[in-house]
Amino acid sequence: MGSDRLPAGIGMTDQVAPSRERIGAVGDFRDSEVKVCSVFGRSVGVIRKGDEFFGILNVCPHRGAGVCEGVLGGTMLPSAPDTFNFGMDGFVLRCPWHKWQFDIRTGKTMNQIDDRSLKLVPVHVEDDQVYVGSETGPSSGAGEDE
Ligand code: FES
Repeated sequence: MGSDRLPAGIGMTDQVAPSRERIGAVGDFRDSEVKVCSVFGRSVGVIRKGDEFFGILNVCPHRGAGVCEGVLGGTMLPSAPDTFNFGMDGFVLRCPWHKWQFDIRTGKTMNQIDDRSLKLVPVHVEDDQVYVGSETGPSSGAGEDE
């Protein structure tokens, strides 16, 4: 835990093996829904927010729950006394085990309750197809693995 490296097989840069895997067409993903896919044998949650896609390794950094089985929604934001400010709707993933909340854009816990973060996985669209892994392939230098 605590490593920023991607899981084995995702975003590989130093091997000839494919560094990305097609997981479907854009139309296969409903907005604001977490779709769990198997990518190079690893469970990855893919979330579509309009034209943007986010990928998350389906492992909670707290105790290892399948975090992508949790609820995607919003959260209460810091606010003045006696006021309630709900926001970030559709960008907060709540782990099903102990309810830690994570920002899907950064992987960080809400309100920085802990330094551990979700492992983000690159997702991109090409010719209306959705891919998980390195966009530019083995020579990109990004997302290196062990
Ligand atoms: S395992 Fe996810 S919050 Fe504890």
